[in-house]
Amino acid sequence: MRVIKSVLQMQKISLKHLKDGDEIGLVPTMGALHKGHASLLSKSEKDDDVTIVSIFVNPIQFGPNEDYLKYPRSVKQDLEICRKNHVDYVFMPSVEDMFSQGHKTFAEVKVMQDILCGPFRPVHFRGVVTLVSKLFNISYADRAYFGMKDFQQLKIVERMAKDLNFRTKIVPCPTVRERSGLALSSRNTYLSDDEKNVSLNISKALKEVQQDFKTKNLNFIKKNILNKLKKIPNSKIDYAEVVSFNDLSIADKNTKKVVFAVAVWIGKTRLIDNIVMTRRGEK
Ligand code: PAF
Repeated sequence: MRVIKSVLQMQKISLKHLKDGDEIGLVPTMGALHKGHASLLSKSEKDDDVTIVSIFVNPIQFGPNEDYLKYPRSVKQDLEICRKNHVDYVFMPSVEDMFSQGHKTFAEVKVMQDILCGPFRPVHFRGVVTLVSKLFNISYADRAYFGMKDFQQLKIVERMAKDLNFRTKIVPCPTVRERSGLALSSRNTYLSDDEKNVSLNISKALKEVQQDFKTKNLNFIKKNILNKLKKIPNSKIDYAEVVSFNDLSIADKNTKKVVFAVAVWIGKTRLIDNIVMTRRGEK
């Protein structure tokens, strides 16, 4: 496993693999790796000849009052996880190298970036999309792996890759959960034991409303999720929404495949989670 810190060097190495006919897998991360990330690494190990993991806490996807400075950083442990998962290259550029002085170019995915988390994190998705498109240009990846916990991010990146004609295929990977149901997230490290206990109610609420999807209308379902979330102690709800799986538009009674998506603050930690539901007879 090699750790590469220079953008130019990473690009040269990727280009060489591309020319040699190797299939390249990219797992973009901000570090603080957990079992969710490990599942992406092992998928790439299976599917690709070469796996590149990027570890980069991307400043442009954090708003001014967000947690950029306190975002968990655990490089030693991350490298250990990468090594165990047979990663070939860990790409860890500096902010200065990624965003050379005078950087002025941004990519945006209109409409899809304006719902769910969008209004609460106004610069977030443009920061993610800009960074991910740079990573695609540096890695020449055949496949890039994204977890479904960040469902809006996944759909936005899929759209961007299509719209900008990247060669990279986006591979969605299932959310990995603790046995309790809590979706794994690097931000879970912010939670105290008590907060962690109450956070379980988020995935529990999503699971419970799953039943309603067969028989009840979407407004009822939304109200039901909100009522369940409101009962979580020490919490504040940013949103609970039912959107189309395909394009994140607000779902209606004709939408066959939907996503129940929620964002909830537990104390000072913002958690997101979702569940995908398909009407009977649909794929
Ligand atoms: O999901 C993340 O960790 C980040 O948003 C990503 C995709 C690595 C871009 O910085």
